Amino acid sequence: MRATLAGIGAYLPETVVTNDELAKTIDTSDAWIRERTGIRQRYIAQRHETCAYMGTQAARAALADAGVDAREVDAIILATSTPDQAFPATALRVQAELGAGGFGFDLSAACSGFIYALSMADAMIRVGQVRTVLVIGSEVYSRILNWRDRGTCVLFGDGAGAVLLRAGAEMAEGSGAGKPRGILSTHLHAQGNLGDILYVDGAVGRPDKPGHLVMNGREVFRHAVGRMTEVVDEALAANGVSRAEIDWLVPHQANLRIIEGIGRKLGLPASRVVVTVDRHANTSAASIPLALAEAYADGRIRRGQLILMEALGGGLTWGSALVRF
Ligand code: ACO
Repeated sequence: MRATLAGIGAYLPETVVTNDELAKTIDTSDAWIRERTGIRQRYIAQRHETCAYMGTQAARAALADAGVDAREVDAIILATSTPDQAFPATALRVQAELGAGGFGFDLSAACSGFIYALSMADAMIRVGQVRTVLVIGSEVYSRILNWRDRGTCVLFGDGAGAVLLRAGAEMAEGSGAGKPRGILSTHLHAQGNLGDILYVDGAVGRPDKPGHLVMNGREVFRHAVGRMTEVVDEALAANGVSRAEIDWLVPHQANLRIIEGIGRKLGLPASRVVVTVDRHANTSAASIPLALAEAYADGRIRRGQLILMEALGGGLTWGSALVRF
């Protein structure tokens, strides 16, 4: 059995903060942020908009989209670097809110978290351990940002996205009729020796040092385009698919220059790349499901299409997932 995408949902916080608003308290400007990153604004969570709250809202939307009751969920995997507590896992707070059964856990792979979680869920479905899995990315980076470090705090935002995966029929409908459907393959990588170019200098369990995000932006940039292009080609080669057959590239939304660089390297026109970083900024593990949800809701992504998702983040971690919707 393959894992098929039965439903997609998202949640964005109520509060929008524009670059100009940030420039009132931080030594930056709308022009600098736009030129270097493409970011115009970001959503920032209020007190009640916790990782669990946002994850639950996104999960509810994915369940509603699929027309599936929460009691049918066998497992919840929640990717986050900003859990509400060290434990219990935020996934289990979501489970309780939804009234779901089964089991659940959090997964930490920074900005690659959603791809890693998708890969775990796919494997669990393929071996027959579960049939229905919620995969959620939920992040409140605003709580781990050093708001005095203008080199990082302008880059990130908060939000959550979710997909409901189900063991399903093997063949696609729509434009992909007759072709294999669902998650075709996932590809994960990590290089722990590069852990110090992007990290959080503390932990939930350390009251003396809850931790702030620290980044060597130039080093991250250097690795991002190369690794993410390689992992796209790896996914295509594994499935005997050409670059021209990709209907949509849904990349991790860190920076417009990185996204455009990958598009150029792959020879993909901008019209086939989903971009939300201008409005969402970098929401880490939530960025891909948020982008997926937007392109699905406005009718760009349709049944039968071939979608390639890819991400790179702290760890370093990186990976891709090729899906026929
Ligand atoms: N506003 C105004 N000026 C700023 C700001 C800001 N927000 N931040 C830095 N500057 C200044 C610096 O102080 C420096 O000034 P100086 O020349 O007087 O010393 C100047 O701008 C250049 O700073 P750099 O850090 O060298 O700027 P760079 O061109 O490398 O751009 C950026 C920085 C946008 C972070 C870039 O390195 C980048 O995009 N890196 C990728 C990192 C990324 O996207 N990380 C996300 C997490 S990882 C992931 O998700 C893939």
